[in-house]
Amino acid sequence: MVKHDNKIVPRGPIGVFDSGYGGLTILRDLRNVLPGYDYIYLGDNARAPYGTRTFDQVYCFTLEAVNKLQSMGCPLVILACNTASAKALRTIQQNDLPVSEDPSRRVLGVIRPTAEYLGTVSHTGHIGVFATPGTIASGSYDIEIAHQCPSFKTTGHACPTWVPLIESGKADSDEADILVKVEVDSLLKEDPEIDTIILGCTHYPLLYDKIKKVIPEGVTLLSQGAIVAQSLADYLRRHPEMDNRLSNGGTCCFYTTGDAQAFGHLATPFMGHCVEAQQLTI
Ligand code: DGL
Repeated sequence: MVKHDNKIVPRGPIGVFDSGYGGLTILRDLRNVLPGYDYIYLGDNARAPYGTRTFDQVYCFTLEAVNKLQSMGCPLVILACNTASAKALRTIQQNDLPVSEDPSRRVLGVIRPTAEYLGTVSHTGHIGVFATPGTIASGSYDIEIAHQCPSFKTTGHACPTWVPLIESGKADSDEADILVKVEVDSLLKEDPEIDTIILGCTHYPLLYDKIKKVIPEGVTLLSQGAIVAQSLADYLRRHPEMDNRLSNGGTCCFYTTGDAQAFGHLATPFMGHCVEAQQLTI
């Protein structure tokens, strides 16, 4: 228990949310950088992919997931999903949290910390972004990168086939090699001066080796996990009032709206330990 705003509130875990498996690529780095905290992972696998859904659908599904994680005791929720960060984060932060039963809870996304990091890596200032159709159409990366580094040129490229491929467990297939090459060629044709490519969808690091194999030497390929984890560590240093509300048991529980066994099967090799997920309705 901890005193907050003159009320005694229980400490709680950090909630990590994604439409499916993608957020595991963020969770893995969060646990490496901040191993002492407790985590609850929630994947909405039953309704993935989000990348081709409307703004309203992504917003409603994300709000349901945030409410669920808060009802499970999370004072802080990370939207480990670019599509949800692009389409739902701002509305949740500005409209929903302030009128909720505990407005001091926080919801953070993954796009801003990624854009903030870019200034330190690109030399040409030409950035490529691979993301879902929803994230690209939202213009969120263009806006955030222009805000952080006004002279940079951002070329976004939607990869609509990649998330369905990963959600169906085919990230290691020959089909994946072909689909990766098509999108890489197309992005680099659009701007051959790109020297930094962001994987702006948390599912895509599951294709990291395949993408790395076909991009030219000298082009930096960035996954978001380590960036987001470092940014959260900084945030908690700057916000001791939130840090004090987080529980420190070093545990991690996994929930999915889809098939729990299938989730555990795919998540276990990726996380490097046995993942036993539980099925959950939100
Ligand atoms: N992993 C998510 C993202 O970062 C969503 C992918 C999807 O459901 O389409 O955008």
